[in-house]
Amino acid sequence: MQWQATHGRNHLPWQQTRDPYRVWLSEIMLQQTQVATVLGYYPRFLAQFPDVASLAAAPEDAVLALWSGLGYYSRARNLHKCAQAVMALHGGRFPETAEQLATLPGIGRSTAGAISAFCFSERVPILDANVRRVLTRVLAFDADLAVARNERTLWDLATDLCPDPRELDLHDAMPRYTQGMMDLGASLCLPRKPACLLCPLHSQCRAARAGNPEDYPVRTRKLKRSSQSWWLLVAQDSQGRIRLGKRPSTGIWAGLYSPPVFEDAAALEAAVQSRWPGLALEHQEAFLHVLTHRDLHLHPVIARVEAVEPSADDWYTRAQWTDMGLPAPVRKLLEREG
Ligand code: ADE
Ligand code: SF4
Repeated sequence: MQWQATHGRNHLPWQQTRDPYRVWLSEIMLQQTQVATVLGYYPRFLAQFPDVASLAAAPEDAVLALWSGLGYYSRARNLHKCAQAVMALHGGRFPETAEQLATLPGIGRSTAGAISAFCFSERVPILDANVRRVLTRVLAFDADLAVARNERTLWDLATDLCPDPRELDLHDAMPRYTQGMMDLGASLCLPRKPACLLCPLHSQCRAARAGNPEDYPVRTRKLKRSSQSWWLLVAQDSQGRIRLGKRPSTGIWAGLYSPPVFEDAAALEAAVQSRWPGLALEHQEAFLHVLTHRDLHLHPVIARVEAVEPSADDWYTRAQWTDMGLPAPVRKLLEREG
């Protein structure tokens, strides 16, 4: 905690409040996104949705549009669902224990712990990837975390290690301790080449003493990655409008807007020929978009339709699609082509 006060991060916008709405929003944004990126999104999001009531009342598309570019859109959909659950089930106030917070959409045990420790000073640990690395190294905890029982044991150890209420005032200690664990994992106890000589835990760290911190954490089961190819029909009419459809509510890019997707080039061509016979297509070079569990190979195919398409509601001008919820690679593609 002393190290956190002098060497940790203490000026991030979400550290200047104990409002659970603001802390929750920051924790969800920070789950898979770097602090530097979140710093750009967080104030804009709060300006549009200053409290849980305004977020709950918003259409999902408005939430996804503000999230556009942060990726992992299930976070945004769960964020919206969570706000609605807080309104419907908790009278518009976030519950004040980690156990109850963890029942809400998108809030796992570690995020629940962070919110409760930061806002309510509850004596509960967090165990995100950074903290898991710090703790397994300090304890030389070498059991396989792919095994649920070992993961539970580590949670129990993490709980025991939280500040002792007989020695410390938890009101200040829990936020300081929680942020300190995060900051150690983010700045010194790095996955490769941890800076053990600068670390305040150096003299107590078993892995540092044994000289093998990089062997922790131990986890056998590897993520199985798969690979998939999509052909994207980027159809533009003579007014420059682009055809976009809302993706289904589950799966890749769920709920976002995208050009029509085809499983192969032949299916795309058949669809084009039946609608615009004889139209020439421009096949562009494929590019790779990396998702959590999948490599997505995207093959853009440009179709310039000579006529103004009748004003069906799935053709959008640049001014319109700029503000819509688009996956980042689609936005890039349209900015290049549109
Ligand atoms: N990542 C998750 N929570 C964080 C926080 N409070 N500060 C910095 N990075 C974080
Ligand atoms: Fe991590 Fe090294 Fe500190 Fe141990 S001494 S917690 S391995 S940085």
